[in-house]
Amino acid sequence: MREVKLVFVGFGNAGQGCARHLLKNRSFLRERRGFAYKVVGIADTLKGSVQNEQGIDLSKALELVAKGKKLDGDDLPGKKGLSSPETIKSSGGDVVVEATWTNLKDGEPGLSHIVTALESGLDVVTSNKGPIALCYRRLVDLAKSKGRQLRFESTVMSGTPVFNLYEYCLTGVTVTGLKGILNGTDNYILTEMAAGKNYDETLKRAQQLGYAEVEPSGDVEGYDPTAKITILANAMMNANVKFGDVVREGITHITIDEIRKAEQASKRIKLLASAMRDQEGRVTASVKPTLIPETDLLAHVSGVMNALQISTDVQPDVTIMGPGAGGDSAGYGLLNDILSINRGAQHHRYLTPGKQ
Ligand SMILES: NC(=O)c1ccc[n+]([C@@H]2O[C@H](COP(=O)([O-])OP(=O)(O)OC[C@H]3O[C@@H](n4cnc5c(N)ncnc54)[C@H](OP(=O)(O)O)[C@@H]3O)[C@@H](O)[C@H]2O)c1
Repeated sequence: MREVKLVFVGFGNAGQGCARHLLKNRSFLRERRGFAYKVVGIADTLKGSVQNEQGIDLSKALELVAKGKKLDGDDLPGKKGLSSPETIKSSGGDVVVEATWTNLKDGEPGLSHIVTALESGLDVVTSNKGPIALCYRRLVDLAKSKGRQLRFESTVMSGTPVFNLYEYCLTGVTVTGLKGILNGTDNYILTEMAAGKNYDETLKRAQQLGYAEVEPSGDVEGYDPTAKITILANAMMNANVKFGDVVREGITHITIDEIRKAEQASKRIKLLASAMRDQEGRVTASVKPTLIPETDLLAHVSGVMNALQISTDVQPDVTIMGPGAGGDSAGYGLLNDILSINRGAQHHRYLTPGKQ
């Protein structure tokens, strides 16, 4: 069985989560999923970079970073000190696992990593929302022109398989609308406020639990779900929604009084991300606190849980719910995408025997 050569770019929570799944399931993946791999490159800013065509000991790499040690010391054999783009270009890899930080201003450094990988003939899986939210069409066109795959399962609802659900199980339908609770931090804060806690105290608790960043505006001002609904609309509705055009409102002004009034009217306030097609066929998207009737499934999505309701021309509403964050979950989404690429490659080999 041919080994798929993986290159990790960004080896933080999501990258390491993916690495753990790969290691833990190595025999299962080989025997039951027809997938064998070796890691030929890892590049990370502070942890350093290592490249080795013979294969990097992934277990050792995880052990080193867990101990706060660098990857480019003497513990791992291979070429050290290359930049991320150099690692992508020269590692001889097949698939880049891009899991650097999300930058919603210009998509960097992830954008350059993805472009470099596709232009160098590698497939890409990424958990990084920035490049996909800002440059979806450009990147998908580039991938197509190079005959490569670009997959981004973990960018929305982390490892909960929204894009795989769409691609493999909703193949023959047209998506007419999307509604979702796509940010666990916001939903946690609103859930706690509904239980009587005030906003400031709940935000502080969310930060202590690691749900919210020290600088929380990405969540509470709605930028994160805005990026996610942009990606969903463009990928599932074949739209051309721009991140900056999405109507965005966060949760900072919501009061417990408003939440109580909503309850008296048998409603809940949720930060709802939605996309719909208007009569001219244009897709518009928004993120805003919304009153949801208690009879709606989305009203009952609590805490850090995420959910997405997909409306289609055939099935009125398909709803998927699951975790929307966590290194293991994001790592699972990355693995899911790697396996999808591998399935595609096997299928391709089957259709054109002898080609590979
Ligand atoms: N964790 C989650 O729950 C989750 C869920 C879904 C999606 N995501 C997305 O997945 C991505 C990674 O998240 P994470 O939680 O793993 O973040 P993280 O723990 O901060 O990891 C990001 C890693 O990228 C490295 N990095 C930054 N710039 C780099 C560059 N130019 N080249 C190589 N490495 C670089 C950082 O290195 P240093 O630390 O050494 O500087 C860090 O190790 C983000 O885009 C995030 O939005 C995360």
